[in-house]
Amino acid sequence: MGYRVKNMGLAGQGAANIEWAEAHMPVLMLIRKRFAKEKPLKGVRIAACLHVTKETAVLMRTLRAGGAEARLCASNPLSTQDDVAAALAKEGVPIFASKGESNAEYYKDLNSVLDMKPNITVDDGADLINAIHSKRPELIANLWAGQEETTTGVIRLRAMAKAGALKYPVIAVNDTPTKCLMDNHYGTGESTLHVIMNATTFMIPGSTIVVVGYGNCGKGVSKFARGMGAKVVVVEVNPVEALRAHMDGCIVMDMRNAAKVGDLFITVTGNKHVIRREHFGLMKDRAIVCNSGHFDIELNLKDLDALKKSKRDIMPLVEEYTLKDGRRIIVLAQGRLVNLACAKGHPSDVMDMSFSNQALCSEYIAKNKAALNENTVYDVPKEIDKTVAELKLKAHGLGLERLTLEQTEYLNSFTEGT
Ligand SMILES: NC(=O)c1ccc[n+]([C@@H]2O[C@H](COP(=O)([O-])OP(=O)(O)OC[C@H]3O[C@@H](n4cnc5c(N)ncnc54)[C@H](O)[C@@H]3O)[C@@H](O)[C@H]2O)c1
Repeated sequence: MGYRVKNMGLAGQGAANIEWAEAHMPVLMLIRKRFAKEKPLKGVRIAACLHVTKETAVLMRTLRAGGAEARLCASNPLSTQDDVAAALAKEGVPIFASKGESNAEYYKDLNSVLDMKPNITVDDGADLINAIHSKRPELIANLWAGQEETTTGVIRLRAMAKAGALKYPVIAVNDTPTKCLMDNHYGTGESTLHVIMNATTFMIPGSTIVVVGYGNCGKGVSKFARGMGAKVVVVEVNPVEALRAHMDGCIVMDMRNAAKVGDLFITVTGNKHVIRREHFGLMKDRAIVCNSGHFDIELNLKDLDALKKSKRDIMPLVEEYTLKDGRRIIVLAQGRLVNLACAKGHPSDVMDMSFSNQALCSEYIAKNKAALNENTVYDVPKEIDKTVAELKLKAHGLGLERLTLEQTEYLNSFTEGT
């Protein structure tokens, strides 16, 4: 079985980091306590392909406490926290990941995880599901269902289901409100800006920040940027979201005009080549561009390469392209999702909700596998979302108002009027 990590000498630091995350993930810890008693995942084989962070380690410990055999590989070659990976390997978790791994290593690790012949896959970007469908279809016979953590993965899976190409059911964990309205919005908002400041010492107040995409992540990034004193320009293709950005106090422009005014560009669309040659050609000298969407496809760096005279590393994962006309464009994290590539990703508190949904969905699949009999994308059961929200409120000591009987009856009636 084994493992592949960068340096086992980092295990002590990794364990301390995981302990820190546990202190900020009260809901998942409560679930772990129950799992340890009830063992709802006894003997269930779970293959996980997630960002290898201290919060993911808390999820792995929880699944194992529930009796699962769980393996882990990275969902991005740049996001692995090597100390956390070492700590998990030391605890006996079969983990296959190292920060900066090559493409060949990435797919070898993914296959090491799949070798366990999983009953459940847990993906962040659908790479396991993709590999199973395209390269290892014999594994489908053992699979009960999958779980998907991010918007880009869910979009792909819905496209597969629509085309009749999806061969086992998947639960869209990303889409449940305690995940996408918390993690994508607050998590991506806070961590993206924090990481950019940390990596570059960029001054946010007074700057013009262009946010491309005003979905759950884009709204979060914009909110934090405005809160810190930036002028925020939003670029959107959806007229309703563009209007919402306007009403929220952002300046709305198309990409060509935004390219001329931005000091910092952040893409969060999940779409391809949203910043490309025609836009790089218009940017100010020393404009910074980065991506917080799932894949490294939002910035067309091939276009930037074609425009460049030279390129150099300024700091780790901060590259300066000098263009033939003398302007410089700074690219962070090679266009990969910046909040995980350049730092540690979301706050543990927000991952508490995402990964509590993942843990409870694993339990739900184990108990209800017979009912998940269509090869389609299922929603997270509303009860799970509600449980996560209630436990989180309780953990923070926040009161929840309850409907009176009279109010419940009123809301269910139609006869009472003016
Ligand atoms: N960095 C992270 O930690 C993190 C966390 C969660 C999600 N994600 C990823 O971030 C991306 C966005 O996720 P989301 O939940 O906000 O998705 P979303 O669907 O809620 O929002 C995406 C928005 O981008 C807009 N858009 C699409 N193409 C565009 C274009 N060419 N120009 C301008 N706008 C465009 C869409 O209209 C939509 O409003 C996905 O790839 C997702 O997987 C990253």
